[in-house]
Amino acid sequence: MTLDRRIVLGGGLALAACDRRADAQIPGGQTPVAIPPLRSAAAFPVGVCVQEEQLGDPSLVPLIASQISQVTPEWEMKMEYIVKDDGSFRFEAPDRIAAFAKANGMRLFGHTLIWYAQVPGAFERLDEKRAKFADAYRNYILAVAGRYRGQAVGWDVVNEAVAEDGNGWRDSLWSKKLGKLRHMVLAFQHAREADPDAVLFLNDYNLENLPKKRATFMKLVEALLKAGAPIGGVGTQTHLAADLAPGEITRALKDLASLGLAVHVSEMDVSLTRSRGVLKDRNKLPAGQSRLYAEAAEAFSSLPAAQRFAFTHWGLRDKDSWLKRENPADAPLLFDDAGRPKAAAAAWIGGLRA
Ligand code: XIL
Repeated sequence: MTLDRRIVLGGGLALAACDRRADAQIPGGQTPVAIPPLRSAAAFPVGVCVQEEQLGDPSLVPLIASQISQVTPEWEMKMEYIVKDDGSFRFEAPDRIAAFAKANGMRLFGHTLIWYAQVPGAFERLDEKRAKFADAYRNYILAVAGRYRGQAVGWDVVNEAVAEDGNGWRDSLWSKKLGKLRHMVLAFQHAREADPDAVLFLNDYNLENLPKKRATFMKLVEALLKAGAPIGGVGTQTHLAADLAPGEITRALKDLASLGLAVHVSEMDVSLTRSRGVLKDRNKLPAGQSRLYAEAAEAFSSLPAAQRFAFTHWGLRDKDSWLKRENPADAPLLFDDAGRPKAAAAAWIGGLRA
């Protein structure tokens, strides 16, 4: 296949170049552009999240196949999908995503084993003895991480553990039953037992715009390592608002990399509608979005090569974004609804360094 070397025009150039029709503009004020495939432009793996049902979309699949070298299941490797009400597990959707990755020569990234926000009823009802709960917890991690052993290159073992205000760590069923630090140490140890080779990540969000949260996140990594958790990497989700100040992403990535572990930009998108009102002129938000994509690409490229685990976009086309499902006016990704590259895509590529 020569897909990798093709320039993606997507029909957008013609529109941009030759007419003034309203549809020459992408919602969000951007004009489609020509780009080389993301994955051949970058010196590191480029990821995207996928849902099983998207694998049947005849226009999305070729876009993913040409742009992307790693996939993360968007929600079907989480407890919300895997754990059934009776406590048994189902794997149909994640298995299909794993098979898709394999068939297309892409890496698979596991997301996510333990998340405060996901507490299946089957676990809540296990309220008898602590040992029974601990066994079920270990069994879950062994079953899920073990199933993709040899294929998953990494796992978000614990997701979003740090409190938003940076004052300590979140409470959850897991922390109540197994201990605030201990449930995380156990999760990493069980994941390591399940898969000796996957890089194991602590993953969190708002690490760019909340320095106090980032400091607590970094202290947590150190505490976990000290307590024997086999952490191999840090994930920064990078769900940004388009009016984030310049410099914040660069500072965050440098800081995180100072831990010496692998770094994963794990879920990047840049919302136009979640902006904090810093930019009064809404028409400037698409330019802000492009600037942030460029800064993220440049800052990530500047990390030591051995620490650049992957850069994952939380979707390719705007219409597939979780943010757009929340607010139809949003347009947070690199490609428009029709799969045409936006200025943000060219900016991301422009920010890459060898
Ligand atoms: C989101 C998905 O995009 C949605 O489809 C799902 O319904 C909820 O989760 N942080 C995370 C991701 O770690 O798992 C979230 O993904 C987005 C925020």
